[in-house]
Amino acid sequence: MEVVPLDSVAEVAVLGADVLEAVVRERAGSAVLGLATGSTPVPTYRELIRRHEAGTGPSYDGVRCFTLDEYVGLPPGHPQSYRATIARELTDLVGIPAERVHGPDPTPDRLPTAGQRYEEALRAAGGVDVQVLGIGTDGHLAFNEPGSSLASLTRLKTLTEETRRDNARFFGSVDAVPRHVLTQGLGTILRARHLLLIATGPAKAAALAAAVEGPLTASCPASVLQTHPHVTVLADPEASAELERRDHYREVYAAKPAWQGL
Ligand code: PGA
Repeated sequence: MEVVPLDSVAEVAVLGADVLEAVVRERAGSAVLGLATGSTPVPTYRELIRRHEAGTGPSYDGVRCFTLDEYVGLPPGHPQSYRATIARELTDLVGIPAERVHGPDPTPDRLPTAGQRYEEALRAAGGVDVQVLGIGTDGHLAFNEPGSSLASLTRLKTLTEETRRDNARFFGSVDAVPRHVLTQGLGTILRARHLLLIATGPAKAAALAAAVEGPLTASCPASVLQTHPHVTVLADPEASAELERRDHYREVYAAKPAWQGL
């Protein structure tokens, strides 16, 4: 795992955008991006949009996207559905059409097969080249709450009260936050070829330290990242505040040969 403690959210966004653009360029028209919703990736997405509008970004022709998760129980087209959110925050704004953006299908009468169908869609696309991830204050990854199997696949999950409280800001009240979600499993996420975890703000410091430096345990689902061969963690000073080896990570990054990239 490569942990990169940075000096600001703006620096995180620039490096995050660099990682995503590099994949889009390298895979020229066949890149598969795994996208996270939530607040954390927004500055990175804004940086991608800024570059796209400035004419310095790559072509997104042919790029396919898969979201990590989706709420269950919202009416179709609800502005807080992750399908609507990712369109509004990124894909519409860089010219990736809706038919190339996929998410787990929360249609009520199709829920029993939703997980398997999403796994098949991911496989048929050839897997995810780079997966953007945030981390929950309870250590969740996507909506894999503590206790989730480290080998889990896409399935229906119930949110913890902590996560519903964290997400109440998007819905006006905690009661309006759905209880159920469809989420890629930890085993699904681990199949992506590169995992890009972004953590910013003081609320993430303890969870990030547990994920990166704590034991591998289902009690901290994000600790499963320790088992993946290519993980990049971008963190601002507040989120990296509780990392015991923070100075070492900084030294490693500063001394890194340019040819290695991220
Ligand atoms: P956030 O959510 O980016 O809105 O903080 C992250 C997460 O819950 O995984």
